[in-house]
Amino acid sequence: MIPELPVDIDQIKGFLAADEAQALYDHALQASARGPVLEIGSYCGKSTVYLGLACRANDSTLFALDHHRGSEEHQPGEMFHDPALFDDSAGSMDSFREFRRNILAAGLEQTVVPIVAGSAAAARHWQTPLAMVFIDGGHSLAAALTDYRCWAPQLQRGGILAIHDLFEDAAAGGQAPYAIYRMALASGLFEPLARVNSLGVLRRLQG
Ligand SMILES: C[S@@+](CC[C@H](N)C(=O)[O-])C[C@H]1O[C@@H](n2cnc3c(N)ncnc32)[C@H](O)[C@@H]1O
Repeated sequence: MIPELPVDIDQIKGFLAADEAQALYDHALQASARGPVLEIGSYCGKSTVYLGLACRANDSTLFALDHHRGSEEHQPGEMFHDPALFDDSAGSMDSFREFRRNILAAGLEQTVVPIVAGSAAAARHWQTPLAMVFIDGGHSLAAALTDYRCWAPQLQRGGILAIHDLFEDAAAGGQAPYAIYRMALASGLFEPLARVNSLGVLRRLQG
């Protein structure tokens, strides 16, 4: 079970259902005993709090990767735009200040290592094997493919790959996360472990 949350999680802006949060926590609790965890797409830190609490229980590390400029759907005029997260002086979205505030309030500053960068740039010289990767970044096909190609190879053998926003039905949501989920399964490198709501969890079979 998730320990008592150090923050009012409903006050953290974000996109994660309670059952998905529980599944993320459970898998991260097991995985982080074997190494660090990395998430792509932290936004204001909702998923980061759950993953971070699991990592902290094992004295492990959560790398929280996000350029904090928002995905396509967060931009002005788009469905999930939040004007409170728009930096007028920069003329762009900036969720990093809100993210830092939430991680501090959750007491996770010694566990969560923010990486404020694009996914591909952060991966370019990455050399640390990961026990778990959670993909919840951009939802264009190009962005999702980049996340999968950059980060799935960084998983340890037996490592966990979790992908958010899987929708079999295109009417229910974008298809890019589901495309990389199917790609991972078709590769023969992963076995399915769980499906919880729109979260898919796979395990890497080969090193
Ligand atoms: C759906 S939100 C993440 C939601 C978050 N996991 C939660 O629990 O609320 C997607 C995030 O991915 C980030 N993002 C999109 N494309 C990215 C990229 N190429 N590199 C890094 N971050 C990216 C956006 O800035 C945004 O904050």
